[in-house]
Amino acid sequence: MSGPTEETLLRAEALKAEINRHNYLYHVLDAPEISDARFDELFLELQRLEEKYPSLRTPDSPTLRVGAPPLAEFVQALHPSPMLGLENAMSLEELADFDQRIKKFLGMEEDLVYSCEPKFDGLAVELTYEGATFVRGSTRGDGVTGEEVTANLRTVRSIPLRLSGNPPPLVDVRGEVVMLTEDFRSLNAMQEDRGLPPFANPRNAAAGSVRQLDSKITAERKLSFFAYGIGRLEGETPSTQEEAMDIISSWGFRISENRKTVKGIEAVAEFCNSIERLREKLPFEIDGCVIKVNDLALQTRLGEKSRSPRWAIAYKFKPVQAVTRILDIVPSVGRTGAITPVAHLMPVQVGGVVVSRATLHNMDEIERKGVLIGDTVVLQRAGDVIPEVVRPLTEKRDGSERPFVMPKACPECGSHVVRPEGEVVYRCEGLDCPAQIKGRLRNFVSRRAMDIDGFGVKLIEQLVEQKIVRDVADIFKLDKETLASLERMGQKSAENLVNAIEEAKGRDLARFLNALGIRHVGEATAHALATRLGTLEAIIGATKESLLDIEEIGPEVASSIVEFFSDEKNVASIRKMQSLGVNPAPLSYGGEASPLAGMTFVLTGSLARMTREEAKESLKRLGAKVSSSVSSKTSYVVVGEDPGSKAKAARELGVPILSEEEFASLLAGAKKPAPVAFAGSGAANAGKPPAQGSLF
Ligand code: IVH
Repeated sequence: MSGPTEETLLRAEALKAEINRHNYLYHVLDAPEISDARFDELFLELQRLEEKYPSLRTPDSPTLRVGAPPLAEFVQALHPSPMLGLENAMSLEELADFDQRIKKFLGMEEDLVYSCEPKFDGLAVELTYEGATFVRGSTRGDGVTGEEVTANLRTVRSIPLRLSGNPPPLVDVRGEVVMLTEDFRSLNAMQEDRGLPPFANPRNAAAGSVRQLDSKITAERKLSFFAYGIGRLEGETPSTQEEAMDIISSWGFRISENRKTVKGIEAVAEFCNSIERLREKLPFEIDGCVIKVNDLALQTRLGEKSRSPRWAIAYKFKPVQAVTRILDIVPSVGRTGAITPVAHLMPVQVGGVVVSRATLHNMDEIERKGVLIGDTVVLQRAGDVIPEVVRPLTEKRDGSERPFVMPKACPECGSHVVRPEGEVVYRCEGLDCPAQIKGRLRNFVSRRAMDIDGFGVKLIEQLVEQKIVRDVADIFKLDKETLASLERMGQKSAENLVNAIEEAKGRDLARFLNALGIRHVGEATAHALATRLGTLEAIIGATKESLLDIEEIGPEVASSIVEFFSDEKNVASIRKMQSLGVNPAPLSYGGEASPLAGMTFVLTGSLARMTREEAKESLKRLGAKVSSSVSSKTSYVVVGEDPGSKAKAARELGVPILSEEEFASLLAGAKKPAPVAFAGSGAANAGKPPAQGSLF
């Protein structure tokens, strides 16, 4: 097929420019010039041309706003410079302290000029424009790395696909994706119509909509973008924050209409108070104000601390409160087994959102606040926080109120509910608890645990919802036919998955323990347990005392392990796995047991080649224990520069001493697979050093 004619090319370009302009007039300026019907006509004309000539579909084409084919997963996006967070000022006093601090830092007496604006309560994103075209968008993530969500952000109408005015060759624009309160209400009404759960607040709705693998879903959600800053910028740079905002606006972005540049912290406080009064009238949710030093040269001088700049602060509003009645308190089991008492309330408006549930956190909190079922209570919603009960209005009691009692058995599965020593949270420890099963399965199959390739979240959901998998052990019952009958699962994937499950049956003990999801037992503890106790049976039968002998394990972790294995249901589930062929392999180094298992090392003096932390880490990895005092049970004392009294103690007790050099070659040798000296180190030799000479 021949390409588009010159005339078609020009028409497509004109349509794109025209549509983008009307889009800007409607979504950024809120001042449309044409009817929706006329807009649709233009859009359809462009869509038809692009269908005929796909080469016309450039990255700035407005037709991309309807969404792209779904992604399998998000790609990580490293921010060219970190997207820092903000320090909070919870009161006007803290705001004044901030002003004092920076004046002192700069050695300035005179009033500083600040650029102030509302703090949007949404999801922070970064948009990259190359040659004025929107090429990449990512979420803030942890500030250093986010997720690439370009296709999703293209669907947001107030994000220009092409910059207007006098754009630079390269710029990163930063800002917040929010859902207007009105759009949030209609979305929740629609969710209800479809029998879907409502979103808790506009922020969650915005974040959930941006983080969709299918951008067609994002396109259905009405989202808005407000720009508030610049990341990288090639070309002319502004000299103040105010100027930067004007430039951003000239490129076609929506910025806060309520921003203001003021002199002195008193004027800042006035601004904050005025915005707080305006809060309920704004079309979107805000949770405070952001105050930035206006002069960009001063911003550079002030620099940043590890996670936030010194030149800006977030002034947080007081939370919004309301009064209502607690109809009931219901225990709710979370994915990790934590049981949270949830107050079911007489529905009430708090800061523009209807609230009918509030968390009471835990039993201690209920007792501390003295909350009873039937109480009239003060309710609070603070920005992104789930509504919480602040206090009961005891004067409103009529005697019918009654206390909440935590059930002894899990309301979801009947397993016993425990309150681990030293903790405030009650937990259900049942391996087959349906409320927890999805979370447990996710952990079980994850890469750092049993590493079952192809066992994704969607599959877990199907398996649990169709009751094919009721506990982790059921994974090992899955066969090709069952898997192939599931949605989105072909014969080949089913076969691959069955093979992956088969392979997982022989994963090592450390991975298996990590996979069980025992509270407080992560990768490192699982590894320590596996190297020190050697077999699954030894771990199941371990007492608290024997666990405490392991250096990495403290009382809280030891109790949690004992508690886990004392639940018959958990042991039964493990037995079921074993009967299905699961046989966790002991940790091996080239087929042999950990080379330094059972040995205890003491380090003294400073080491030149490595830090003490590194030395400890290497020893632990090889199965050795590191102790701080020398005894007759010590296998070796490693002596560095300026050793302390420990070297002397070693000589007195006849404990072998290693120089740093010898120690380094011991580590190097031990890391090689199966050194001969350790091949036969059975129980009789445990704790004793192998014969000198064979070590190196
Ligand atoms: S400026 C280096 N301005 O607040 C600081 N941030 O804790 C750059 N936020 O997740 C941020 N409204 O997304 C700035 N007008 C505003 C903002 C704002 C909301 C968010 C931002 C970030 C958080 C910082």
